[in-house]
Amino acid sequence: MASDTLTVIDNRTGKKYDIPIKNGAIKATDLFQIKVGNDDGLVSYDPGFMNTASCQSKITYIDGDRGILRYRGYPIEQIAEKSTYLETAYLILYGELPTQSQLEEWTHNITFHSIIHENIKKLIDGFHHDAHPMGILLSTVGALSTFYPEAKNIFDVDSRHDQTYRLISKMPTLAAFAYRHSLGLPYSYPDNDLSNFLNMLFKMTELKYKPHPVLERALDVLFILHADHEQNCSTNAMRSVGSSQVDPYSAVAAAAAALYGPLHGGANEAVLRMLMGIGAKGKVTEFIKKVKGGEGRLMGFGHRVYKNYDPRAKIIKGIADQVFEVKGRNPLLDIALELERIALEDEYFIRRKLYPNVDFYSGLIYQSMGLPMDMFPVLFAIPRTSGWMAQWEEMLADADQKLARPKQVYLGAEPRDYVPMEGRS
Ligand code: ACO
Repeated sequence: MASDTLTVIDNRTGKKYDIPIKNGAIKATDLFQIKVGNDDGLVSYDPGFMNTASCQSKITYIDGDRGILRYRGYPIEQIAEKSTYLETAYLILYGELPTQSQLEEWTHNITFHSIIHENIKKLIDGFHHDAHPMGILLSTVGALSTFYPEAKNIFDVDSRHDQTYRLISKMPTLAAFAYRHSLGLPYSYPDNDLSNFLNMLFKMTELKYKPHPVLERALDVLFILHADHEQNCSTNAMRSVGSSQVDPYSAVAAAAAALYGPLHGGANEAVLRMLMGIGAKGKVTEFIKKVKGGEGRLMGFGHRVYKNYDPRAKIIKGIADQVFEVKGRNPLLDIALELERIALEDEYFIRRKLYPNVDFYSGLIYQSMGLPMDMFPVLFAIPRTSGWMAQWEEMLADADQKLARPKQVYLGAEPRDYVPMEGRS
């Protein structure tokens, strides 16, 4: 008769164990009981969490084989078409689409908390003019914890929610200030308008920078697509660091640091550098040959979970066309399209199920909007903050969660006596 258990026979001892299966998972701690003599019990070895669920979550669903992404049950295609980033952030955080009055209150909270303390500005002033804005962002968001000591009060739900909208509200300001610093331009202060972010980035002598509506909507959709992606590297950092019960500003700094790397959120910047390095459509075949020979990776391709076209990349391709209609065709697009065409027909990429991911085309859009490459990961971090905060809030409310502290398989030296200097060879 069928039962929701896994039967394991340990061939070292001949013992048999029945391990319960719940929600398609066994508990790793149920392996403790599988022992030989007095050893510590069996552990599962899983570098990079290839097949380990670190939490239960109700926020985002991904089916990597079928290319499906849903926030709180809603398909990403519908949200990208019909929603706004702020509404999406609310959905991700609170589980339901907001009513009109909830959306108004939420929008008010986000738009009215974007000012940062003047001393943070002084901190930004201290960075080199060519400092990477992602380095500035993660340093300054971490520094915000010193301005909000009450953020340590993570067990009070209302206080948690306050920190959540504060963080979502202030990240664009920190990002824009980092950008202006790199150009040596005066900071443009936030206002309570929704086009605030583009104004903070691009305002010159005019009273208010008026973004082209197509570009404004394109950025909003890109923010929707980047808002959450379940247990990715940076979210895992957020949860892992947050599990020590540190304040959320420090945990977001850690998550932003994880996002910075070229294998994760830094990939959009790396894609552009790669396209510029290739230089011409005619050189794509030669470049692909090098990748297949183990010389570097095709950046913006491949994903730990998607073994099919990343649904976000499909939507982004459509936005790219709209942006290029306004700003003119990005000359690197031809190289990107040729790379995609060749890679999708190539046995190496087909066998490994490598498809374009979210980062393959997003950089081209940002570049066409006039943003420098090193701002690309920053533009990823702004919307992902809502995902990080939702995952952090969910973790704190989950009775199953504990301090993140993985085990290791120790392969080092056996016990031995200390050797004084004169006895070492
Ligand atoms: N180009 C060439 N080969 C690749 C690529 C790539 N982009 N990605 C994976 N492979 C190959 C690997 O060399 C490996 O081949 P092998 O089996 O012959 O050794 C195989 O595919 C599996 O690769 P892994 O690195 O084991 O897969 P993993 O799931 O760990 O990697 C990752 C996922 C890191 C995203 C990878 O595909 C990659 O480096 N892509 C490029 C960077 C990138 O675009 N990152 C953004 C991801 S999306 C995001 O984080 C927002």
